[in-house]
Amino acid sequence: MVTSTPETELPLVGRHGEKRRVDELIGVARAGQGGSLVLGGEAGIGKSTLLEHAVRAASGFRVLRASGAEFEQELPYSALHQLCIPILAHLTALPDRHRDALRIAFGLSDGEPHPFQVGLAILELVTTVSGEQPVLCVIDDAQWLDAASSQAMAFLARRVAADPVAMVFALRSQSTVEGLNELPWLNVGRLSDQDAKVLLAVRNPFPLDDRVRDRLVAEANGNPLALLELPRAGGFVLPAASTVPSRIEDGFRARLAGLRDDARLLLTVASADPTGDPGLLWPAADALGIDVPVASVPRPPQGWSNSRRAPASVIRWRARRSIALRRTVCVVRLTAR
Ligand SMILES: Nc1ncnc2c1ncn2[C@@H]1O[C@H](COP(=O)(O)OP(=O)(O)O)[C@@H](O)[C@H]1O
Ligand SMILES: [Mg+2]
Repeated sequence: MVTSTPETELPLVGRHGEKRRVDELIGVARAGQGGSLVLGGEAGIGKSTLLEHAVRAASGFRVLRASGAEFEQELPYSALHQLCIPILAHLTALPDRHRDALRIAFGLSDGEPHPFQVGLAILELVTTVSGEQPVLCVIDDAQWLDAASSQAMAFLARRVAADPVAMVFALRSQSTVEGLNELPWLNVGRLSDQDAKVLLAVRNPFPLDDRVRDRLVAEANGNPLALLELPRAGGFVLPAASTVPSRIEDGFRARLAGLRDDARLLLTVASADPTGDPGLLWPAADALGIDVPVASVPRPPQGWSNSRRAPASVIRWRARRSIALRRTVCVVRLTAR
């Protein structure tokens, strides 16, 4: 069985300023002065990676996670519900009106949710929990949050200044999300050429000669995902008018097309689950009659492992800009092993 370091444990290259901002936020929240930060940047630039840095920095915090998903965007409060799952048991400690407001918002009671009441209730719930242990809320892919959740989360973010609560959002650049664009913002820009070379040296499994490496660094334009994926996505052909992220998508699509049908179905199922829970994936695969070991043997790209670990990391990836991208991004995780 091929073993590999989970991506969340790989060394983070560069990003000193960004890490400092995140560390400050966590440090100040730990001392009881909460706050928030929105990490904005293009696809693949390293926003989710920085969220994982925040989680690592927040030792001793209770971490609440949510992730926007295109297919849940029309479901009011679905992302807020995801964020609150680990602390739902604390609902009983809330005053009746707050408990009822959240129960209605989460579809646990009948009624029409009232955004302001929900905002007050989520504030009460999270600050109550933070009385036991500081809280870090990590919200990825915020560009796909349902509007009701983004409003409630922004409401919370603006009112935790006197509580040990830190909130970090990752948001695709050029996205406008209700409430979030007014919060403290940090632009996650391109990696320097020097950092890009270090990233290639530590993450790229293929030996590269200097000219190829320099060209790759130039083409990727400081986008870490591009650095890692362009070689497989036809990266050595001069780009046409397309952007780096769209070239990566094209490369993923091409690789997806080379997979077996059952492998594609497995990837579709994995990418449809925003929770990243293998306990859901395997029964779903069984119900669809997918023979996982067989489906996991594509016309093999390099480094593929048959181990059942691979799809667990597939679902962690959670990129879901479009169904095609969702599927293809999973391929990246599969083929990376
Ligand atoms: N600073 C970094 N050091 C090492 N690897 C990185 C860094 N930033 C991003 N990566 C890698 O690049 C890829 C894309 O990063 P990710 O955080 O998923 O981007 P985004 O969330 O902005 O789309 C991932 O494989 C990640 O591990
Ligand atoms: Mg991401």
